[in-house]
This record gives sequence, structure tokens and C-alpha cells, in this order.
Amino acid sequence: MFSFFQKKYFLQDQLNGFVDIHNHILPGIDDGAADLNASVELIEGFEKIGIKSFISTPHIMNDYYPNTSESIGKAHNSLLDHLDNLGKEIKIKAAAEYMMDQAFLELLEKEKLLTLKDNMVLVEMSYFQPPINLNEILFKLQTAQYKPVLAHPERYGFFHSKSLNKYEDLKSRGCFFQLNVLSLTGHYGKGIQEIAFRLLENNMIDFLGTDTHQMRHLEKLSMAQLSKKHLELILPVIQRTRETFSF
Ligand SMILES: [Fe+2]
Repeated sequence: MFSFFQKKYFLQDQLNGFVDIHNHILPGIDDGAADLNASVELIEGFEKIGIKSFISTPHIMNDYYPNTSESIGKAHNSLLDHLDNLGKEIKIKAAAEYMMDQAFLELLEKEKLLTLKDNMVLVEMSYFQPPINLNEILFKLQTAQYKPVLAHPERYGFFHSKSLNKYEDLKSRGCFFQLNVLSLTGHYGKGIQEIAFRLLENNMIDFLGTDTHQMRHLEKLSMAQLSKKHLELILPVIQRTRETFSF
């Protein structure tokens, strides 16, 4: 007999030993953890899910969070020291989430970027509109031998459409796509959830990240449940992320 009650699976059960490649756990330098205590609270929340390895990605956003390699390095070291004093065995690398704006282009000319791994750079854009020179930015990144990893492509409403042609165009321009795990739960809205699953169904998502800024995100993640069909779509992405970024 047909059942209305489809079995659901807790997503967090699949994340034991995962390396989170997108989060804001470094203390006091963006809109994530406000201080060392908040960083530790987040890390302890992650530990409950079984995540103990992180590539931290503070915003580098000229107008709001004018971070530099130095400010990120300093916050990274202070957190590592603090965790060491607490006797916690947590692995954290420092990278960044770069806003693709004019300042980013200038930075690209001037200095080495912080990468997730090798030449992979996590980039984002405004939720209101893409940069007018997006194609130029992507081209220059790749001319400089970087590989762009676009953070949460599903969250850019201006790319949503019946066809996935805007996403196909970005892929053809060399972008990897990093999905936010909470997009699968409807946390950012129904439209974003739908696009997230369509991108997965079309094998367009390369990597998964949590984009955790605050405890609320981890609470939602620990409660998230998926159908078998949806779980099967995300498992290869979890595996690929783990294999690519484990350290
Ligand atoms: Fe982020």
C-alpha cells in the first residue's frame, strides 16, 4: 500500500569525519564568530556532528569586512593557540571567501590569494546582482592560474530560471560549484531549495560546505532530514568534498 510517510534520514549522520570547506568560525573578523568563546561554541557544535576539520573562510569584502591575509592569519593563530590551551584536537586551515568586486580584481593583480587547496579560490557575489564584469573577473582569475569555486550558487536568485543555462555558462567558464548544506533544508527559502536539488540532479554541484556563521545554523543542520532519493543525490558530493579537501 502506498504510504504518505516517506522514511527520512538525518543528514548529519553522513557528515562524520567531514571537512567543512566554508565557514566563519575564526574569531572577530567578520559576521561569524564574534570572539574566541563564540568560535569554541561553534567548534563544539560541529564536534557533536562529527566534524573536526575545517578550512575557515572569513569574508574579504572591501566595504564591510576589509580582511587581509594578515588579519586572517592573526585570527587563525589566536584560535589555534586557544584550542591548544583547551586541549582540543581540531584541525583548521585558513582561507577566505572573496567578494568578486573591483577591490578583488585589484588584489588579484597585487598579491597571492588565500586558497582552499592548491589553486582553488572560494568566491561569492552580491545576492542582488552579479558583478557587471563577472566574466572578466572569472577570466582574469584563470589567467592567474586560479580555479574559482563559486560559493552557494543556488542562493543567487538572478541565476534561477526554468533552464539552468546561466549555471551552465558559469561552469563553461571554469567555475566549481559549492552548495550550502542548509539550502537542502529550505533554510534560505523554497526557490533556493528547489534550485539546489535541480543542480544536484544535473550533476553540477562539485562540493558541499556549511557556511556556518552562528549556532542557529548548526542547530538546523543537526535537525535536517532528507528522503532517500535526496540523500542519494548529496552523498557523492559529500564524498568528493572529503576526498578533495581532507588534510
Ligand atoms: Fe560564507
